[in-house]
Amino acid sequence: MIRMGVIGYGYWGPNIVRNFHNQEGVKVVAVCDGNPAALKRVAKIYPDIRLCTDCKDITSATDIDAVAVVTPVSTHFELARQALANGKHVFVEKPLTATAAEAEELVALAQKKRLVIMVDHTFVFTGAVRKIKQLIDEGVMGSLYYYDSTRVNLGLFQHDINVIWDLAPHDLSIMDYLLPIKPEAIVATGASHYNGLEDVAYITAYFADNLIAHLNVNWLSPVKVRTTLIGGEKQMLVWNDLESDEKIKIYDKGVEVSSAENVYDLLVSYRSGDMWSPRVEQKEALGLECRYFADCVETGRTPFNDGEAGHRIVKMLEATSISLKNRGEIVYL
Ligand SMILES: NC(=O)c1ccc[n+]([C@@H]2O[C@H](COP(=O)([O-])OP(=O)(O)OC[C@H]3O[C@@H](n4cnc5c(N)ncnc54)[C@H](O)[C@@H]3O)[C@@H](O)[C@H]2O)c1
Repeated sequence: MIRMGVIGYGYWGPNIVRNFHNQEGVKVVAVCDGNPAALKRVAKIYPDIRLCTDCKDITSATDIDAVAVVTPVSTHFELARQALANGKHVFVEKPLTATAAEAEELVALAQKKRLVIMVDHTFVFTGAVRKIKQLIDEGVMGSLYYYDSTRVNLGLFQHDINVIWDLAPHDLSIMDYLLPIKPEAIVATGASHYNGLEDVAYITAYFADNLIAHLNVNWLSPVKVRTTLIGGEKQMLVWNDLESDEKIKIYDKGVEVSSAENVYDLLVSYRSGDMWSPRVEQKEALGLECRYFADCVETGRTPFNDGEAGHRIVKMLEATSISLKNRGEIVYL
């Protein structure tokens, strides 16, 4: 039995508690939140879970094997560090930490203590992303040209991070999982209209082999859009995460160049074939991820969404902050 402690029961914490609570071989022993009103909500649903307001009652409890950190980003490092130092496996919300140096320290500590460190990159456990991964790995798309995502809606404004640190960890972790290569450089532009934190931002990531990615993240959009286009040499794909059926559509469309000897003689023709929509598994991603965490703790296996993966994402986020400050300066990774 893996005995879990969860720190943070705000917006996302209830999903973490519910999903760990539902796992065979896992018991949520205690929940901590500095806000007593949050603890009242826990008591109503789970009368047997121990409640506390001091995180040390979780990170140093002798009856807890693993700790989930579901608090704002600025607190992740210290809470995860305490838990690891006391011999507990950790499941940390995205983004792993507020700086790359902190992420490195957590990775080293987990390695030294032989403990599992997993970052909640929820989207890589969705049926849609796993299907796209399968299509890319099987060569269905051909070599990749671009990754273009739009993740916009009205709110929720965060108080300690800008829209990039809030929303882009999703896209960056999806890219990190799907794409065969890692970005070489990042450019970010954006603007803030309310509290000094950017609420609209655009990120470009440059890769080798002419692969390029563009991410649009925005807290000020009148409508919610969650659409990603992936262009390949052989096929092009549209993933609309707001669709309940046919989330992914694959288009047999592309460009064929028939004569390239001389740029003026270039003959370009367009291929426009069939569109099809593969079946996508509908299981709750967070449930699969919590199961995977429990399995990694039980077997000692290193998860693919481990501290190193979290560190890669934080490095990219840090690069966006430098680029933003310098109005779109290119930052090499
Ligand atoms: N994976 C996802 O899809 C996803 C979705 C939403 C949020 N998140 C992440 O979850 C984390 C929390 O986000 P949220 O929206 O739930 O925030 P929130 O502000 O709604 O909740 C955070 C809770 O943590 C508590 N807290 C803060 N510091 C604490 C401390 N030191 N000890 C005990 N309790 C403390 C607060 O009282 C609050 O109830 C963030 O890292 C966020 O990025 C992930």
